[in-house]
Amino acid sequence: MANINKVISSTKSWNSTSCELIIFGIYQDLSMTKVGDEINEHLNKAVTKGINCGGIKGNEGENHLFFSDTKRFLLIGLGDKENYDAETTRKTGGRCVKIALKEKCTSVWIEILHNNNNEDFTRALAEGLVMGSYQFRDYFTDSEKSNDIPIFIEHAEIFNGDETEISRGFASGISVCLARDLGNHPGNVTTPSYLAETAQNIAKKGGMTCTIFDREQFTEMGMGALAGVARGTDEPPKFILLEYFGSDKNEKPVCLVGKGLTFDSGGISIKPAGKMDEMKYDMCGSAVVLGVMNALAELKPEINVVAAIPSTENMSGAKAYKPGDILTAYNGKTIEVLNTDAEGRLILADALSYISKHYEPKYILDFATLTGAVLIALGHIATGIMGTDQSLVSKVKNSSDNTGEKVWEFPLWKEYCEQVKSKIADVKNVGAARQAGTIAGGAFLKAFVGKDIPWVHFDIAGTAWGGDVKPYTQKNSATGAIVRLVLDMLKV
Ligand code: BES
Ligand code: MG
Ligand code: ZN
Repeated sequence: MANINKVISSTKSWNSTSCELIIFGIYQDLSMTKVGDEINEHLNKAVTKGINCGGIKGNEGENHLFFSDTKRFLLIGLGDKENYDAETTRKTGGRCVKIALKEKCTSVWIEILHNNNNEDFTRALAEGLVMGSYQFRDYFTDSEKSNDIPIFIEHAEIFNGDETEISRGFASGISVCLARDLGNHPGNVTTPSYLAETAQNIAKKGGMTCTIFDREQFTEMGMGALAGVARGTDEPPKFILLEYFGSDKNEKPVCLVGKGLTFDSGGISIKPAGKMDEMKYDMCGSAVVLGVMNALAELKPEINVVAAIPSTENMSGAKAYKPGDILTAYNGKTIEVLNTDAEGRLILADALSYISKHYEPKYILDFATLTGAVLIALGHIATGIMGTDQSLVSKVKNSSDNTGEKVWEFPLWKEYCEQVKSKIADVKNVGAARQAGTIAGGAFLKAFVGKDIPWVHFDIAGTAWGGDVKPYTQKNSATGAIVRLVLDMLKV
């Protein structure tokens, strides 16, 4: 959870705030804001002395703690002034809050940390503070024995910040933390029922309609692919629908689809034992969707968004689906299953068909930890994307630039689409052996997206789980990646 419960705009200056920690910044050219200069005077020129002895350089990530009276001051390095941007602000917010937590401060006052009044920076700072405060400690029963007892920052005050941008940043930060929690909880907690409950809570908060279909219902409705994958598990599978109409009902909704595979053992085509535990995060596509819907519930923008989450475990057992089985998806297309571990695309096939049939989507975005191949191609650094509409792809790339969540486009050429054609059914759930695995996933999904609906697929198998650590993420932990990118696309 986030360890910060409030971020507010403060008009109180550094010397009249009651906050325990006061944070100010210095650039590589050693310039500070007016606030910084004043604090330097108050500290008997401690900053100037630090600069003179070479101890303070203003490099990005550098930090110095000073003490005076009952207050603590944190001077934070901001790096090159020319290159200082929203992402640097976000990272700086993350660094600051991690230090505040380590120092066990319960309240923080922070200047905006840049000299030009850019609202994106204000939002980014609030996001960085909230995301950087995230810790996942839910399962320690005796935290007293631990070195870093969890603490809570009551609030952070951003000096002279824009209240609207701060609220938006706070809501998006909290929503990223919600997505991280869903991914970090083990498979015996984040079950399809738990995802359904989370969706219902979001619906209640945001005035949304939430409909949950159980195994019997979605099977009866014709979702043969989701039903096929779910045959091997006793954990009740769900098809979850969330509808948010904040604008005129006649306005086409943006539709979001997320893979909610709460544990992927591979099924009969079983995965190797090593790291199989990590397959609890195979529901992170659904976490992106729920994170976004949570932010909508908080901010109630005037837009229409519909979300669909197919959710089940992928297990082996007497009733489990088998390699060679043929399933019929919601749009009537037949699928030859050649590998039961390529299950994500199967459950998404039904959800994409359902959305295409029952709504008139402005566009569809789907999110899925779909292929190991995307990890080979892009590591944990970038999300693989592909789609049918170049202007929508450009919109995604543009938002990616705004939020710092990197994406890289793969081609969906017809040659790749040929590779998922089956000899005995309409499609098969694998492409050519050991080739272009990520694109094969996208090519398969394309067969289930309604004709002429702009659509982009996000393969987040690499980015949903932390490899390298950013100042606002945690190691070996769910990242909540792509929630902010979608919010940026929706202008929320
Ligand atoms: N959930 C996995 C993909 C995955 C791998 C996510 C690593 C996160 C980290 C997916 O269901 C899967 O097993 N995909 C197979 C597809 C293959 C059998 C065509 C894969 O990538 O190996
Ligand atoms: Mg799998
Ligand atoms: Zn999977």
